[in-house]
Amino acid sequence: MFEALKPLPQDPILQLMQTFREDTRPDKVDLGIGVYKDDAGNTPIMAAVHEAERRLLEGETTKSYVGPAGAAGFNNAVAELILGSNSPLIREGRTSVVQTPGGCGALRMAAEFLRLCQRDTTVWVSTPTWANHLPLLGGAGLTIREYPYLNPETLEVDFAAMLGTLEGAKAGDVVLLHGCCHNPSGADLSLSQWQEVTSLIQRKGLLPFVDMAYQGLGEGLEADAAGLRHLAGSVPEMLIAASCSKNFGLYRERTGALALISATASINSAATSQLLSVIRSHYSMPPAHGAAIVETILGDDWLQAQWQEELSGMCKRILHLRHGFADALAPVGDFSFIARQRGMFSFLGISPEQVSQLREEHGIYMLESSRVNVAGLNDRVMPRVADAIRDVLK
Ligand code: LMR
Repeated sequence: MFEALKPLPQDPILQLMQTFREDTRPDKVDLGIGVYKDDAGNTPIMAAVHEAERRLLEGETTKSYVGPAGAAGFNNAVAELILGSNSPLIREGRTSVVQTPGGCGALRMAAEFLRLCQRDTTVWVSTPTWANHLPLLGGAGLTIREYPYLNPETLEVDFAAMLGTLEGAKAGDVVLLHGCCHNPSGADLSLSQWQEVTSLIQRKGLLPFVDMAYQGLGEGLEADAAGLRHLAGSVPEMLIAASCSKNFGLYRERTGALALISATASINSAATSQLLSVIRSHYSMPPAHGAAIVETILGDDWLQAQWQEELSGMCKRILHLRHGFADALAPVGDFSFIARQRGMFSFLGISPEQVSQLREEHGIYMLESSRVNVAGLNDRVMPRVADAIRDVLK
């Protein structure tokens, strides 16, 4: 049966990660996969995570099953992190959160759930969007349509084009939005643009689905959630996929959550039972360790403060690098949009040939689309990277 299968190329982001690891040049620079890096180019374990793990190791009494919804303490803490601790959506029982294997698990379970609600569901995704959105959502049988998001000339949000296309969506269609730190462009909606999108969603009866993978890495935990919270407070139903990979640095622990918001508590209870059944038939239950770390941190004032301080340091470092990079590239051209964008990513707007030249000749790695992970820079490599970009652009 297997002999007819053709080999597939690796996912481009993961392939690039591997090629970088195999590159023996000591001065190589990784601006590829979206992991946070510190000034020394490492992706360290956060001190709050270390301490939470130490406490868990000492205090854990069982490895028994957690159940399809995962840990209730984690789910409640994540609900507050995303929606705010005083959210009426939590108080009124209109929100349930289930723990998932990473943000990817949340995206896929949401897609399977949507397919169950309505067999011919269409989901609108931004052009561009994170490449893995397409197989995660399309693989569940959802029809994918695209709305223009980034103006390829200015590399800023083309809001008029976005709204214009979404005017053509029909009631019951799903709109996927990036909560903050748009991947791959770094171009986020302003709060007033979130308000306009919310009005359109309300008027047309669309279902919003927000991917919140980078909360805390744009402008801060609260500011990054402002648009999402406005939307959640204005619509009867909504889905949110959240990831703890980046803001807790738990990448390999696969820690995420799916929030389901419904019009009433009783609708939410029935809908959640369906979602749990979807989960049971896919992977039965999520892994426990990463969520236990997050629950421990968010459940302890001292650890939470420590984590917030570390996260805020990461966020400030990215903002510093964004400004430094835009300045370093000023002699090459107008890259000021990098300083205005948020999160780890921006496009340089250079060709695939120039991207490959940067990799081959200078050991500087970025995605073929010219998406760079700004967090992979530091003040020492910045001049060399800027010189190399000038070299390939001349
Ligand atoms: C990225 O966009 O680089 C990250 O989200 C990592 C991944 O799995 O693609």
